[in-house]
Amino acid sequence: METAHGGALSLTVNGRRHQVTIDNRTSLLDLLRERLALPGTKKGCDQGACGACTVLVDGRRVNACLTLAVRCQDAEVTTIEGLASGDGEPHALQRTFVEQDAFQCGYCTPGQIMSGVACIREGHTGSREEIREWMSGNLCRCGCYVKIVNAIAQTARAGRS
Ligand code: FES
Ligand code: FES
Repeated sequence: METAHGGALSLTVNGRRHQVTIDNRTSLLDLLRERLALPGTKKGCDQGACGACTVLVDGRRVNACLTLAVRCQDAEVTTIEGLASGDGEPHALQRTFVEQDAFQCGYCTPGQIMSGVACIREGHTGSREEIREWMSGNLCRCGCYVKIVNAIAQTARAGRS
């Protein structure tokens, strides 16, 4: 039912269809974490400055904290929980993050990986400088940048995305 401040929303998250009634002011980040019980997407700044909340909407990376959930009507959303294959095999970039030890506290990691997957698919991995440029919206307070770039470069080289 539509109200002055809310209404029905239908979207697909990690291949699963959801129908929810939400306040129009709800961010995609809060919808994922608080309504759909998907806490893998992290809330860092909640202001579009850190990239911790990066998810894919119709294949494109967005900051979920800046995205109104109502804008995602009929969208396909992918979060870190949806990257593994159906049989639970981690995504190639998840594996190389582990191999390269590309995290410390891990708080930024889901956003880095979602952004990294898109960076590879977009073809922005021609050099370390290009990877750094196209990953510049994702901050890491632990300073794991060298290993994050290693992981993305290794995955891109292997042709896995
Ligand atoms: S929490 Fe969304 S960009 Fe920082
Ligand atoms: S691993 Fe700690 S913020 Fe990136």
